[in-house]
Amino acid sequence: MNAINSDIDAVGIVLAAGRGSRMRSRIPKPLHTLAGRELIRFPIAALKNCGLSRFVVVASPENKDAIAGILGDEVVCAVQISPEGTADAVACGLRAMTAIPSLVVVLAADTPLVRPESVVRLIQSHRSAPTRRMTVLSAAGAIGPDLGHIKRAACQSADALGGLLGIEEAADRAEPAYYPAEINTGVYCFDGLWLNKSVEAVPKSATGERYLTTLVAMAVDAGDKVEAEPIALADEAMGVNDREQLAAAGAVLRDRINRFWMSEGVTLVDPAATYIDVDVVIGQDTVLQPNTMLMDDTVIGEACEIGPNASIRSSRVGDRCRIIASTLEESRVEDDVEIGPYSHLRPAALIEAGVHLGNYVEVKNTRVGSGTAAGHFCYLGDADIGDGVNIGAGTITCNYDGVDKHQTVIGKDAFIGSDTMLVAPVTVGQAAATGAGAVVTRDVPEGRRAVGVPARLLPQQQSGSD
Ligand code: UD1
Ligand code: MG
Repeated sequence: MNAINSDIDAVGIVLAAGRGSRMRSRIPKPLHTLAGRELIRFPIAALKNCGLSRFVVVASPENKDAIAGILGDEVVCAVQISPEGTADAVACGLRAMTAIPSLVVVLAADTPLVRPESVVRLIQSHRSAPTRRMTVLSAAGAIGPDLGHIKRAACQSADALGGLLGIEEAADRAEPAYYPAEINTGVYCFDGLWLNKSVEAVPKSATGERYLTTLVAMAVDAGDKVEAEPIALADEAMGVNDREQLAAAGAVLRDRINRFWMSEGVTLVDPAATYIDVDVVIGQDTVLQPNTMLMDDTVIGEACEIGPNASIRSSRVGDRCRIIASTLEESRVEDDVEIGPYSHLRPAALIEAGVHLGNYVEVKNTRVGSGTAAGHFCYLGDADIGDGVNIGAGTITCNYDGVDKHQTVIGKDAFIGSDTMLVAPVTVGQAAATGAGAVVTRDVPEGRRAVGVPARLLPQQQSGSD
């Protein structure tokens, strides 16, 4: 896909001030998520991918802070005081601009499946007809009973499209239209100056709202050139107006994402049971077993085996790792690591190369050094664990004294006997050892052994049994 030339004087307007009442939610509609991304981010990402860099988001008084919080400085936020229709919303967006650009591209915040490829083609089509005032992105043969239908004059030739007459809104139809039609995706390209002049004149519809789509019939009446380009796929026209449509759009998006990663050389054993968020990255020859969820900005390396039943959020996993039936959150895993089944990495776990974490191992805010093994149930929190350590079954870092959290340090090549309680703050030195069931309340120096409750150091020459 070729983005449009960056020196075109273009601004994108994203409409996000509607009530979204069909969602029946306390959360504003643009903040509902699909594949790990808020709805409002989709049109902005699509416009950016097209090569646009200036955006105005039309928000409502209720959702403007939340939207500005998500999008930050990259957009200008215009506030539409009351949702009086999409024409009113566009007028509000134009008023927020210091100068009217020659090209305005309008997208809705609730059509997340619009692909940048289609928007680029729309812009190219619009620009190729210099006298055209407005170009609508439409999808032929789509079913959208609650969406706008493109109306055209009857045409003699089966191959040609009839001239555009207008857009018929669902509210103006006598019967719900459950048949294929040419659907308005809600994406438009405008001659900026014409739009600025015309949009104010859009009359109220029967519902009391001023529809942006009324501009089509107005332009036709006035002899201004308008066109609809049926170049979008049917699923791009899917709007998210209620929870059912949110789930339906999610299913389409999931399918697109899954097919993309398969085309990049990732095996999905069962795509229908694989959930990959839109910002995830996966390396070649990785195998995703069923019930794998890869969320937010997770990155998985090459030749890994993930799942079955793995859930990984905002984490980075190296190459050749095996993660079975485990949960990872905001963690980093280096190469050649084995985790699971039933282990849990909580935020700020750093698992270095070649580590083995077996069953029921919980790790939080802890570095686990290269080649270390914790094969059986244990809790490792607020710890720094060196390379080549053996962590026995049942080991617990007692990091919390009821008021504060404290650190545990375990030196390289240490041996932590089964069922050791490490009462932090505490350090077990390099190549030191603890006996089974030891409750370690004081530091164990390098090379020494501590046993018992509370743990006492064994004489240096003596060797204890674990
Ligand atoms: C709209 C189109 C319809 C098209 C469909 C595509 C109109 C009148 N109809 O219908 O032809 O097929 O999108 O999804 O435009 N908004 C505001 N301020 C308002 C009203 C709406 O910002 O006063 C925003 C909404 O937040 C939403 C977008 O505009 O993001 C579209 O509004 P919505 O009410 O969802 O229109 P649809 O009924 O979906
Ligand atoms: Mg809508």
